[in-house]
Amino acid sequence: MRVDILTLFPSMFRDPFDESMIKRAQKRGILEIYLHDLRKFTHDRHRTVDDVPYGGGGGMIMKVEPLFRAVESIRNQIKCSPEIILLSPQGHTFTQKKAQELAKERCLLLICGHYEGVDERVRQHLIDEEISVGDYVLTGGELAAMVVIDATARMLPGVLGCQDSARKDSFYDGLLDYPQYTRPAEFRSWKVPRVLLSGNHQAVEKWRREMRIEATFQKRPDLLGQIELRPGEKDLVKRIKRRRN
Ligand SMILES: C[S@@+](CC[C@H](N)C(=O)[O-])C[C@H]1O[C@@H](n2cnc3c(N)ncnc32)[C@H](O)[C@@H]1O
Repeated sequence: MRVDILTLFPSMFRDPFDESMIKRAQKRGILEIYLHDLRKFTHDRHRTVDDVPYGGGGGMIMKVEPLFRAVESIRNQIKCSPEIILLSPQGHTFTQKKAQELAKERCLLLICGHYEGVDERVRQHLIDEEISVGDYVLTGGELAAMVVIDATARMLPGVLGCQDSARKDSFYDGLLDYPQYTRPAEFRSWKVPRVLLSGNHQAVEKWRREMRIEATFQKRPDLLGQIELRPGEKDLVKRIKRRRN
């Protein structure tokens, strides 16, 4: 996958993308990331990327011309046709499902806003979609872009050591993850659940599935309505409810 990032602060990305999974994905040629400094697409002496809003009010707005120039130039340089995404608090909230969908694209072009945001004509005529990383306002789109790229890159085949583990992660199939333990089997008298030491794979799988449902019920009951429970699991939810009341 190729990812182009348009930003006023390319250096913000260097360390985060030079570590761990993202670094490995790039080394293996699974992921290519290209950073573009928006100021390079200005024509004036001061390399102006922002201006005051029409109608008054505080703050600065990112100008339309450098953004169009940058996107058109990147589009002309690359072979694939990128999905153009504006990071924005007004977009659809980013989810695991969206990360899975984006991982199927060949090319992404992410636009990081700053200041009071971008000229509305960018939203109307340049981008394919807006993505938000949550209902709060960040200073700029850079951290949001990192979140989107990290979660998407994990879904690319070959990035995770064990691709199967992603399927058990929280949200992949709508449930939260089950509780995990590692050695020692006992710490300060807190013991690892006996079933995990039993060597009985069927019992372990059953316990893990029940724990996932229980964790989801306790921490994110809103998710339970969206998943398909297996036969008998509705009774399990009833039992969990009774235990809580
Ligand atoms: C200070 S914000 C502008 C907020 C804008 N005035 C609004 O209320 O919609 C500057 C930039 O940060 C990025 N940003 C802020 N919050 C974000 C969020 N929750 N998700 C994604 N990007 C965000 C966007 O790129 C945005 O253009």
